[in-house]
This record gives sequence, structure tokens and C-alpha cells, in this order.
Amino acid sequence: MHFLFASAALLALLKPHPVASLAVDASIKAVTLDIVNKNLAPDGFLRSTIVANGQYPGPAITATKGQTLRVTVNNKLTDPNMRRSTTVNFDGIFQSTANSYNEGSAFVTTCPIAPGASYTYEVPLGSQTGTHWYHSELSVQYVDGLRGALIIYDPLDPQRQLYDVDDLSTVIQLGDWWQNSSLPMLARYEATGIVPVSDSGTVNGIGRYQGGPNVPFAVTNVVSGKRYRLRVINQSARNVFTFSVDSHSLTVIEADGVATRPHTVDVIEMLAGQRYSVVLTANKPVANYWINAPFVGGLPSRNLHQNATLSRSILRYRGAPIAEPTTPWTLGPENGVPLIEANLVPLVNEVPPPADVNISLDLTVIAGQAIWNVNNISYLPPKVPTLNKVLAGSASFDPTENTFILPAHKTIQIEFPPTDDDDAHRMCFIASPFLSIDLDTISTAFHLHGGNFWVVKSMSSSTANFVNPIRRDVAGVGGSGTTIRFRTDNPGPWLFHCHIFWHKQAGLATVMLADPAAVRKNTHPTKAWEALCPAYNALPVELQ
Ligand SMILES: *[C@@H]1O[C@H](CO)[C@@H](O)[C@H](O)[C@H]1NC(C)=O
Ligand SMILES: *[C@@H]1O[C@H](CO)[C@@H](O)[C@H](O)[C@H]1NC(C)=O
Ligand SMILES: *[C@@H]1O[C@H](CO)[C@@H](O)[C@H](O)[C@H]1NC(C)=O
Ligand SMILES: *[C@@H]1O[C@H](CO)[C@@H](O)[C@H](O)[C@H]1NC(C)=O
Ligand SMILES: *[C@@H]1O[C@H](CO)[C@@H](O)[C@H](O)[C@H]1NC(C)=O
Repeated sequence: MHFLFASAALLALLKPHPVASLAVDASIKAVTLDIVNKNLAPDGFLRSTIVANGQYPGPAITATKGQTLRVTVNNKLTDPNMRRSTTVNFDGIFQSTANSYNEGSAFVTTCPIAPGASYTYEVPLGSQTGTHWYHSELSVQYVDGLRGALIIYDPLDPQRQLYDVDDLSTVIQLGDWWQNSSLPMLARYEATGIVPVSDSGTVNGIGRYQGGPNVPFAVTNVVSGKRYRLRVINQSARNVFTFSVDSHSLTVIEADGVATRPHTVDVIEMLAGQRYSVVLTANKPVANYWINAPFVGGLPSRNLHQNATLSRSILRYRGAPIAEPTTPWTLGPENGVPLIEANLVPLVNEVPPPADVNISLDLTVIAGQAIWNVNNISYLPPKVPTLNKVLAGSASFDPTENTFILPAHKTIQIEFPPTDDDDAHRMCFIASPFLSIDLDTISTAFHLHGGNFWVVKSMSSSTANFVNPIRRDVAGVGGSGTTIRFRTDNPGPWLFHCHIFWHKQAGLATVMLADPAAVRKNTHPTKAWEALCPAYNALPVELQ
């Protein structure tokens, strides 16, 4: 939606020019995702998973700016110990009002796809580019493996002169991994209020756990002298990863699909759902170097498998031996320059409009229980999705739907007050050692569907920025407080939730319903979409 504000300079840059490859821009990119159960051992421990096309992470979906994705999801799930229904969200893709029914958020914009059934998501990418991902948006199902990259390449990338290589070999996907399946873990969480602590962290689907086998680490191959656009995606359901590459600095050029002015750092802390493109120049002696992605997420004493330093992969120069780096297993990052979110500036600046509507969201947890409140309400997914209700002309929502009805074409300001640093919070939020150096700083990561927002006050800074704040779709909240602004120019029921999916499941979610009248007028779902709810509701509970 914010493209309305793009500057004339950018529009000039992006003006199509007559090269043959652009002829395909408006084409359909067809993708098939078979959602299957498969026994996999990403960290050396074999378990049944829920994955796309039999692999973890799922196949990368790639597209060119302007294309429409046509993603056919075939639900072939059979394992009775995990959720059998599914739904896929294209995380970071804004979707239009007309297409909101294809954005995959269970019980907000759709019902899940029943086992044995198929559904085709039609996803026009509009003018979006950059690094995104897809994942199950049903309960905590993505913990079981259903996650993958979604990259939109821009043939006219205004930053193209900054790098030489940008292909699937430069996509780096970070994920937390559990050896148990999500249902027993969710049951335990609901009984104790303690978020399950992951066994390992995976880099491009490979990890190790303390006491486990030495699974060969993933390798990113580089050639001396070339510059690589690494697209780093945090596909975590809980853990915060801290990303760095030994001896190499990283120049950030994109955050969550928004191009940034080049900004060079050594260490990047990524919250769940966040993405960055960084340029790495292969200008060091030919050798193997560690790519470090240690993580924080719960007390390690709650899971003796956890050893955050085993979350790594290898940067290998051509000519270096096929071996692990010989440098020590140091954490490293604490010695480098960390990325401070407030220092990121968009390449194309937009001054955020003044706030027309102010909302304050107070996040609290009930100690010892898996219950999170936003303004004293714990979100519960309704039986009838929000979008179905709006289309049926209903304007009434259960209080537990925590739905904010917003006027059209306004600027909404959401303020998350500073969080109390009490024990209950510390237990459930993430300790964030590198962002602020203050070990007690606590944060969670909020993600908006349907658009992005200006981070007018980042939790990484004590001052607000009304001049050139970064825009993104996932931001940390907590610590010293966070304030964001977004426009309601894209009517729709958009989930706004914590991207720590355990917390989301425990109620840390709201729905930002922009302009319901325009939704009714302009959203005309297909028969296939209309059939999803009756089919799902007819399922016995064990198949839902
Ligand atoms: C999974 O969790 C259940 C319930 O807590 C437990 O009984 C089981 O041993 C766990 N399995 C694994 C592989 O951790
Ligand atoms: C990924 O997100 C999780 C959860 O917010 C966070 O703990 C972790 O540090 C993030 N990883 C990176 C590399 O930012
Ligand atoms: C974690 O793994 C590293 C690398 O193998 C090892 O040096 C370290 O001792 C391990 N940590 C613990 C607590 O065992
Ligand atoms: C919203 O809050 C800001 C302060 O952050 C204030 O300047 C503005 O007047 C408020 N707007 C409304 C509509 O209340
Ligand atoms: C939440 O509930 C408490 C206690 O009932 C009350 O004092 C507070 O004002 C409520 N907060 C909101 C945002 O409604």
C-alpha cells in the first residue's frame, strides 16, 4: 500500500524499459506444493515432519517482479500424531483487498485445507520485490517443518551495482528445530505456560544438537573477489538468531522487502519472521569461515540438547579444502558492530503521515499459563473466519477476536508501551543480548499482514524518527517501547500478531480490519474458497 508514496525518483528508475525479459513480468508462475509427512533428520534426530515436497525447508518459490504466483497446495498429510489440515501464508506479501481470501491465515481470511484436498492460492505480487517466505498459518504447525523461502527478483533492482551474485545459493534460512512434534509440545505448553525450548537451530535445514551426530553443515560457496547478496530469512517460531560471518562485514540493503540505504555492520539480530539482504564481499584469504547463527530462546537448562553455538554453516571460498573452518567456536558477534534497527533508512524515503487514529496495545502474560493478552483479551480464532463474517454483512465480532475496525484511508498509530521487566515477562519474552547489550531487555516480534508499517519508534532507540524511519512488516516490541504507523489504503481483515507462534497460539494476536464496507464491495472469492469452510467444519476433530 505504501507504494502510493514512492518518490518520483524511484518511479523513474522503475519505469519499464523495452527489454525482452520484461515481457514475462505479468506472467503466471505456477508452483505445486505437496504437503506431506516425511521422516527427516535435519539435526541428526529422525522424526516425522510436515513439509512441502518432502524437504525441509520447502522448495524456494522464486518469481520476477510483477508476476502472479499460482500455488497449488495438495494436502497429503496422513500422520495421525500431527495436524492433518493445513493452510499456507505468503509472509510479507501484502495481497490486495480483492485477493485477501488467498492470503492463507486460518480463521481470519480462510478455513484450512482438509486432508486429501487441494487449493490453489492465486497471489499477484504487484510491485513488491525482495525476500519473503511461506509457512503454515494453522496453529503452530510450521514448527513441524512447513516453511520455505519466497524471493521476488527485480530485473531493474536499483541496488544491482552493489553485488555480483544473487541466486538460490545465497539464500540463508535460519530456523529453530524441535525433535518432538508440535501437538504434544503445545499440550505441555498449555499445561505449564513454559514455551517449548528448541533442541537445535538449523541453517538451510541443517543443524546439530548437543550429544548428537556431526551432521555435515550446510555450505555457501563463494569465489574470491565477488560480491554476494545473501538473503537471510528468520523462519524461527521462537528463537532469536544472531547472524554473522567470521572476518566479513555485512552491508544491509533490504529489510523485509524494503530496500535500505547500504548500511554496514558485523552482526545482525533477527526476530522471528524478519528478513534482511546483506552484501558480503569475498575479499578475505581463500579458506573456510564460519557463518554463525547462535540463538536465544528459553532457558537452555530446560533442554539439554540445546547448544546455541552448534547453529552454524560454512562459507567456503573456491580453492579452500572441503573441511570445517579451523577457527575456534567463538560466538564472535559480541566483538562486532551490531545492526541497530533505528539506524536503517529506506532507500526511498517516505515521511510517515501524522496519526489519525491512536491505539495503544498492552501485552501481558498470565504467569504460569499459556495465556497472552492484548489489552486484557486473549485472541481465540473464531469458528467462522473474520472475512466470511464481513462478507456476510456481519459487523459483530466476539470480544476474543480482538478485532479493531479501522476507517478507510487513514494513518493508524499503534503504540506498544515499554514492557515491565518482571519475572513473568522474562520467562516468556526473549532475552536479547546483542541488540541492546542489556541482558534483561525483553522483546517479542509483531507482524502485520496486508501491508507494512513505519517503525517511528524502534525498540532499539530511545528517540522517535518521524523523518525517515524504516518500513517493514515485522518489528520487535518491548524494552523501551515501540511505535508504528500504517495506512488503511488496502482494506481487509489483516492479522497483526506475535511471530513467536507459541505466543500467537496463546492469544498474542489481533485483527486490524480496515474498511469493512470496501471489503464487502471489492472481495469476491471463488467457489473453491467458499467450499473450504463447509469441508473443514465437516471433518472429525482428528482430521482438522
Ligand atoms: C514428546 O512430548 C511428550 C509429551 O511431553 C513426551 O512424552 C515425549 O517423550 C516427547 N518425545 C520426544 C521425542 O521428545
Ligand atoms: C529469529 O527470530 C527469533 C524469534 O524472534 C529470534 O529469537 C532469533 O534471534 C531470530 N534470528 C535471527 C538471526 O535474527
Ligand atoms: C557446544 O558446542 C561447542 C562446539 O562443539 C563446544 O565447544 C561446547 O563445549 C559445547 N557447549 C557445551 C555446554 O557443551
Ligand atoms: C495521536 O498521538 C500523537 C502523539 O503520539 C498526538 O500527537 C496525536 O494528536 C494523536 N492523534 C489522535 C487522533 O489522537
Ligand atoms: C486491563 O484490566 C485491568 C484490571 O482489570 C485494568 O486496570 C486495565 O485498565 C485494563 N486494561 C485495558 C487496556 O483495558
